[in-house]
Amino acid sequence: STPENWRRTDEFLSDLLVGHDPGLEAALAAQRGAGMPPIEVAPVSGKLLNLLARIRGARRALEIGTLGGYSTIWLARGVGDGGEVVSIEAEPANAAIARASIDAAGIGDRVAIRIGRAADVLPTLEGSEPFDLVFIDADKQSNTIYLDWAARLGRTGTVVVLDNVGREGEIVNEDTDDPMVAGTRDGLRMLAEDPRFDATALQTVGIKGWDGVALALVLSPGP
Ligand code: DHB
Ligand code: MG
Repeated sequence: STPENWRRTDEFLSDLLVGHDPGLEAALAAQRGAGMPPIEVAPVSGKLLNLLARIRGARRALEIGTLGGYSTIWLARGVGDGGEVVSIEAEPANAAIARASIDAAGIGDRVAIRIGRAADVLPTLEGSEPFDLVFIDADKQSNTIYLDWAARLGRTGTVVVLDNVGREGEIVNEDTDDPMVAGTRDGLRMLAEDPRFDATALQTVGIKGWDGVALALVLSPGP
């Protein structure tokens, strides 16, 4: 196998199972035009988020890291009419682009974008209805903080998805001085050891390169 085969195979799967999607393609074009990095989830992974929301019957989803709103649109479609997505974005300029793309995709009424550092915004969500699905895709250094809030703001049965756990195999490099790798590994250790979670992780390879995603079930939201 070669990276080119993986890319072509991912493209084949995306074409077959995701297909042409004007709302999502416009969101990507706006994101690229605004100069945001091309680090949104791959189309097949966006659809995975959408399917997980539907499989769970999620009505309320929380996203940490809006970027240009690509995964937000997938989640908003997944929670359905009457569902809600709260998405947190640290960069106001990203949030403005995302807001326009989400509205243009026709599901803007289901999405609230909260601007600020997630570590500051998450405590303000306490006391709201529990989230049924949480997608964590922000600064990797803060993964353990975000996982703690995912459990606290969730309920028994909440689905948690943690992006970018593979990092091109770097997570097995104990000598790393990359704080993103260390934060990713800390998040995985927390999923393994914290009794509030039961989790697994899958390596992914495709148009985004070599990475991975962790999936967790909240067993109990309490400490
Ligand atoms: C990075 C972050 C992401 O969420 C992603 O999907 C890919 C890369 C990064 O910060 O390097
Ligand atoms: Mg990511």
